[in-house]
Amino acid sequence: MPELDTGRLDRDGVQDRSAGRLARAIGILRERGPLEPFRLVRRHGLAASAGFVTRNVRHLVADRLARNWDRDHGVDTAGSIQLAGLNVVGTNRDQGNECLCTSPRTFDFIMRSLAADLGDRTFIDIGAGKSRTLLLASRYPFAKIVGVEFAHELVEIAKRNITAFHDPGQKCRDIEVVEADAAAYKFPPTPLVVYFYNPFSKRVFDIVISNLVASLRENGRACHVVYGSSSHAAIDWAKPAILASNAFEQLPTPPMPGFLDAVRRIDYAVFRYRPDGGEDRPAA
Ligand SMILES: C[S@@+](CC[C@H](N)C(=O)[O-])C[C@H]1O[C@@H](n2cnc3c(N)ncnc32)[C@H](O)[C@@H]1O
Repeated sequence: MPELDTGRLDRDGVQDRSAGRLARAIGILRERGPLEPFRLVRRHGLAASAGFVTRNVRHLVADRLARNWDRDHGVDTAGSIQLAGLNVVGTNRDQGNECLCTSPRTFDFIMRSLAADLGDRTFIDIGAGKSRTLLLASRYPFAKIVGVEFAHELVEIAKRNITAFHDPGQKCRDIEVVEADAAAYKFPPTPLVVYFYNPFSKRVFDIVISNLVASLRENGRACHVVYGSSSHAAIDWAKPAILASNAFEQLPTPPMPGFLDAVRRIDYAVFRYRPDGGEDRPAA
């Protein structure tokens, strides 16, 4: 199936696969003629072609809503940013995933499952991208918010966003972005909510979870871990990897609805730190 997404460089020099997607689709139709959709069906079958069109329409709608959200809040968080052309700290570039943001409705839905008092918690987004999730988290009463991001250009955009963000509902203004490889990040000794939206491969994830568990064992405190991904394969390895640490129990959560503002539907799971080990508790 052809892809519509070579993307283009935006004003910060980052390659955004979402920008100009509709124009590219129209360009392809113009170039190949009005019979191209029929050729597509003949080549790939009706079901695959319908799936392709649905995925792309969904992407266009979600991207439009994301850009509207950005405009309303004075920031730049939308798009699908490729890592290839970015300056990255550390040696894990090839383990990282493109920068695609959590949608506002998805984030609020996940937050309803936390059921924790957030007033003393530091929210940490591992792989913070352009800061969308940090800004969404700032509408909750966290004590502090930290984003860890290894791509220099994204860190710069994130810092600019944090200064420019305007939202009358903002509750936490103590927001920081740390430019670092997540595998080398040292967690602060405060109660935590640690958020992952499919930032990297299992190899890096295992290191980060093991650093987190060591930090929690050294300095006992409350911690929730949220793992979200639109790739089922990632959810399938992330859940057992977290439970295998024998430090977390999985909390029951309702399934994620298919929100229109999400480019892809996120599957997610929420875990709570249990100092005595969570291994003998049934996973939800
Ligand atoms: C799917 S995006 C998630 C963006 C943001 N967390 C959100 O939910 O809106 C993944 C981000 O993780 C970053 N990333 C990937 N590997 C990383 C690593 N080893 N250390 C720090 N950041 C990383 C990428 O640059 C990208 O911005």
